[in-house]
Amino acid sequence: MTIGTEKQKTILVTGGAGFIGSALASRLFAEGHQVVVVDNFNEYYDTKLKRDRVATLLPNVPVYFLDITNKEALSALFDTYTFDIVCHIAAQAGVRYSVEAPHVYVESNVLGTQTLLEVMKDHEVKRMVYASTSSTYGMSTPSPFEEHAKADKPVSVYAATKRAAELLAHSYYKQYGIETTALRFFTVYGPWSRPDMAMLKFAQKMTAGEAIDIYNNGDMRRDFTYIDDIVEGFVRAVHKPLGYEVVNLGNGHPVELMRFVALLEKSLGVSAQKNMLPMQQGDVYQTYADTSKAKELLGFEARTSFEEGIEVFARWFKDYYKV
Ligand SMILES: NC(=O)c1ccc[n+]([C@@H]2O[C@H](COP(=O)([O-])OP(=O)(O)OC[C@H]3O[C@@H](n4cnc5c(N)ncnc54)[C@H](O)[C@@H]3O)[C@@H](O)[C@H]2O)c1
Repeated sequence: MTIGTEKQKTILVTGGAGFIGSALASRLFAEGHQVVVVDNFNEYYDTKLKRDRVATLLPNVPVYFLDITNKEALSALFDTYTFDIVCHIAAQAGVRYSVEAPHVYVESNVLGTQTLLEVMKDHEVKRMVYASTSSTYGMSTPSPFEEHAKADKPVSVYAATKRAAELLAHSYYKQYGIETTALRFFTVYGPWSRPDMAMLKFAQKMTAGEAIDIYNNGDMRRDFTYIDDIVEGFVRAVHKPLGYEVVNLGNGHPVELMRFVALLEKSLGVSAQKNMLPMQQGDVYQTYADTSKAKELLGFEARTSFEEGIEVFARWFKDYYKV
């Protein structure tokens, strides 16, 4: 797809200080669009990482310290810019923390999404592409996960709030004609990733000589998807109005947890001490994307092999954390 020939758009990226939002904002700017970022810089994980990501965007991309549940502040921003499209990435992410602090998820993911849709309605912004998750499929959906599955049996509050956001988006489509594409991401990894996710958490512990926690005694599989592939799929969705849609963005090749650990050991040049543990509350055994809809609607296919991606991650990790 030749994005370079597309008309320049004014694009809002929510959660642009985050792992995926910052990579997306950077790519959209590189393609000639006017990009504006909002983020509340919450302290769910080390905010230095968020500030450092944002430093790679400034001054090209203006960054606003703003919570998407704050309707007044959001409305003022929509008065300042005439957005063509909203890329909604901001959310409280992470399955495990949703056991501890469920209200934070309802606030950012449900109230935040609804506030954003309401402000879009008021300002007649008619398109949103947003981050959803493979977690919406829960445990009872047969693998590989297909988008037509009901996804009505979430096993975590995180999953329930992300599914609720999809349902809210549908109601705004039906009532106000706001077109939305939900992209259900599958375990995204790469440079600048989140420290609460296994890859960065394991890398930090392994290089510090600490043991890593291996859940379900290592019997787990994740459909790891490299950040550049996710951004590519997202950009394609930005340029393709689809009415109301839900599309998987995954790799389609789940990786065994123990294989992932072995590759990480190899690329970091250290060996891991392992705590073998039972399954965690709210977790799922496997994520596995059926990628045919993304191919059909967006011409998207993940291109980065896990071996390649993990090497790039390890190089970034050693450089950023000076290990
Ligand atoms: N990383 C993954 O593997 C993965 C997988 C599936 C889905 N997702 C989804 O992708 C999106 C981005 O994930 P990420 O890994 O980049 O997470 P992240 O935590 O790095 O990014 C989210 C950003 O949103 C911001 N934010 C949270 N609540 C906000 C609020 N109320 N107002 C303004 N900003 C707020 C945070 O400060 C953060 O910078 C999320 O919607 C997440 O649910 C991620």
